[in-house]
Amino acid sequence: MKWTSMEATPPRFETLQTWFRDHTQSFLSTVSEHDRNIVLKIEHSERVVAEIESICSSLGVKGEDLHLAKTMALFHDIGRFEQYARYETYVDRDSVNHADLSVTVLRREGVLKDFGPDEAELILRAIACHNRAALPEGESPRHLFFERLLRDADKLDILRVTTRYYESPESQRDRILDLDLPNSAGVSRDTCRDIEAGRIVRLEHLHNINDFKLLQASWIFDVNFPRTLAQIRDAGASRVAMEVSSHALIQKPILDSNPMLLKTGMGMVPICARLP
Ligand SMILES: [Fe+2]
Repeated sequence: MKWTSMEATPPRFETLQTWFRDHTQSFLSTVSEHDRNIVLKIEHSERVVAEIESICSSLGVKGEDLHLAKTMALFHDIGRFEQYARYETYVDRDSVNHADLSVTVLRREGVLKDFGPDEAELILRAIACHNRAALPEGESPRHLFFERLLRDADKLDILRVTTRYYESPESQRDRILDLDLPNSAGVSRDTCRDIEAGRIVRLEHLHNINDFKLLQASWIFDVNFPRTLAQIRDAGASRVAMEVSSHALIQKPILDSNPMLLKTGMGMVPICARLP
């Protein structure tokens, strides 16, 4: 679907939302499982907009910068819909890097053409980096700020969703959220090494669901704003991810990793052994 707005730059957010809605609705079918997975990503994108608004509000970010932040949140996973249509999976390693595909879709459809080139680049760069284990070196302070905003907002929603998911009865779980990983015992050595080194667990180190939970726990190394930590704590959004972090070797780097953890009381998060 080509962008056809005649509006002056930058486009109103409501106009971008209309394009988002039309584009994503076109991926719905009559197959309920397929549609459930499409709706999952539509709703995730909309909630990431709300999360980024909340972080921006805590930082006093408004006006054009808020508009840019909301736009990158709305479109950060736009490639997910083509990914699922083509491969019937959200697992990047079995299909395609969905962040790169989001950038391709936005360029191809001309969705950002009414933004100035610098703003469009800022949005695309933040989207391209949102799923990387670490941000690239040498980013400008402005790019870095928006990239961090998007990463925090995205992770907040994923943590909320996965916490609810892992606390629900097994019979109600949709395996798409487990990345099709087996529910086997233990954790992998490589996952523990990532945690010990104080870095986000790499996707290629995931061998089972415990590793995936630890990957989510390791996102604490990459929390950038106090509001995000407060939300993680208040909503209990990290509960399941932290529960699996039963080893001292995992706890210590997590709690030492970020000076904001102590300020927000995250050091008091109860951590219990639950490894099968
Ligand atoms: Fe994503």
